[in-house]
Amino acid sequence: MSQVTEYDNAPKTDHAYDGIEEFDNPLPGWWKWLFVASIVFSPFYFLFYHGGAAGRSVEDQYGIALAENTRLQFAEIGDLNPDEATLASYMNKPNWVRVGQSVFKANCISCHGREGEGQVGPNLTDEYYKNVKNIEDIAKVIINGAGGGAMPKWSDRLHPNEIVLVSAYVATLRGQNIESNRGPEGKNIPPWPEPVEDEPETPEE
Ligand code: HEC
Repeated sequence: MSQVTEYDNAPKTDHAYDGIEEFDNPLPGWWKWLFVASIVFSPFYFLFYHGGAAGRSVEDQYGIALAENTRLQFAEIGDLNPDEATLASYMNKPNWVRVGQSVFKANCISCHGREGEGQVGPNLTDEYYKNVKNIEDIAKVIINGAGGGAMPKWSDRLHPNEIVLVSAYVATLRGQNIESNRGPEGKNIPPWPEPVEDEPETPEE
């Protein structure tokens, strides 16, 4: 046999296969206990997060965080009314129009197209409207729906402020005349009102 090495005196397990022996190198105790602890922990984790209790799944947590965030954002503007003065004012506030745009991107592009150019629903970037004669009608259509449900009602799916802000965004689309395969539908209506200089009063609760 060859020379003596430092391994010759190392502890070995007492089995050998075809003369091949195994060193006795157990996993460190802390490692084994971590392994056991993670197995013991897993059913509790599973039951807690996936056991069907409301408000604990990742989706629910996300929903709660999102609602909280919306509430914080909207604390700044109070409760908006979908009236002419508010819409005319908010369509000229780029930061809030951007919030309206994100509502539009999340809910409306499947029917109205990425830029509002129209698809299943009419083109919102031209001067022609089917259900809209003045700026408040945008919000009315969004709240109540139109076309016998072809345009869904959003009053129970969006926060009232989201409806005002998405209406303000839709109002800004007018006149952009984005390329579309939906031709003009409805009537060419008078221009939107000029925004009033003063902030509209925040309505009382
Ligand atoms: C399921 C498809 C669908 C979705 C989703 C949808 N719309 Fe519509 N929308 C329509 C259709 C169809 C009409 C036309 C109704 C009619 O014929 O009177 C319409 C009409 C409108 C009008 C009136 C246009 C006009 O010419 O009178 C506005 C404004 C509007 N939608 C905004 C929105 C906004 C904002 C959203 C997202 C919150 C949205 N829509 C989501 C299908 C949709």
